[in-house]
Amino acid sequence: MRIIKSVAEMRKVTNSLTWKSKVGFVPTMGALHKGHISLAEAARKECKIVVMSIYVNPSQFAPNEDLDSYPRTLRSDLELAENAGVDYIFLPTDAEMYPEGYKTWVNVEEITDILCGATRSGHFRGVTTIVTKLMNLIKPDFMYMGEKDFQQVAVLKKMIEDLNISTVIKACPTVRESDGLAMSSRNTYLSPEERKQALCLNLSMKQAAALYQRGETSLTVIRNSMTEIILANQGRIDYIEFVDRDTLAVKESADDKTRIVLAVFIGKTRLIDNGDLV
Ligand code: PAF
Repeated sequence: MRIIKSVAEMRKVTNSLTWKSKVGFVPTMGALHKGHISLAEAARKECKIVVMSIYVNPSQFAPNEDLDSYPRTLRSDLELAENAGVDYIFLPTDAEMYPEGYKTWVNVEEITDILCGATRSGHFRGVTTIVTKLMNLIKPDFMYMGEKDFQQVAVLKKMIEDLNISTVIKACPTVRESDGLAMSSRNTYLSPEERKQALCLNLSMKQAAALYQRGETSLTVIRNSMTEIILANQGRIDYIEFVDRDTLAVKESADDKTRIVLAVFIGKTRLIDNGDLV
């Protein structure tokens, strides 16, 4: 696995892949867990060259968020990436990605104003900008992303469509701990007590699916039932929403295409998850 730290070197590598290899790209912010590794493994199976980036992108964190405390575990990340078959790992610095005088931003409208975008001001603008920059440098055929970040995937698909970018996003299933907690780099913030409470996200989605399977289609009833479970576990709800799994349009009543999306604070840690009703 070759480590690349500069934009110039990354561009050189991309240009050298002239024999038109199929390039798979896994963008990450590091603190790699089994979810990230499943993305690298999917890329390894389907592509000739696998590139991973590790970059904690400051522009997607609001000033009150966890940029400074975001876990940074480079040594073990490198080992995990190498074992997963990554060929090139791109580790740019802030100065490389946002040099002095940097002025350009990519913004997807409307679908970035709801759900996580409603409370995380500027978050998606930071994500779409950095992902565009990385795609321009790496020119991947496929980009592998986790479905846990459901809205992020929808926003990036829209951006790719609107800007005529030829990369195809491969959204891969959320990887869960054996007790159902969705894997996330932010799970490391949880105390042992909070780790137990964090199960309420998945439990509440299971309860929603069970209600729907018994014939309940009122989203008020389903939301109330989920809320009860979350509050009983000391969770503080940012949002519980029900959207069309393809378009992200907010649903009026539950049906087979409904995707539950939720964000819940457990202590100070904001966790997100999503799942279908069927
Ligand atoms: O999902 C993430 O880890 C980040 O939002 C991404 C896509 C690497 C952009 O910084």
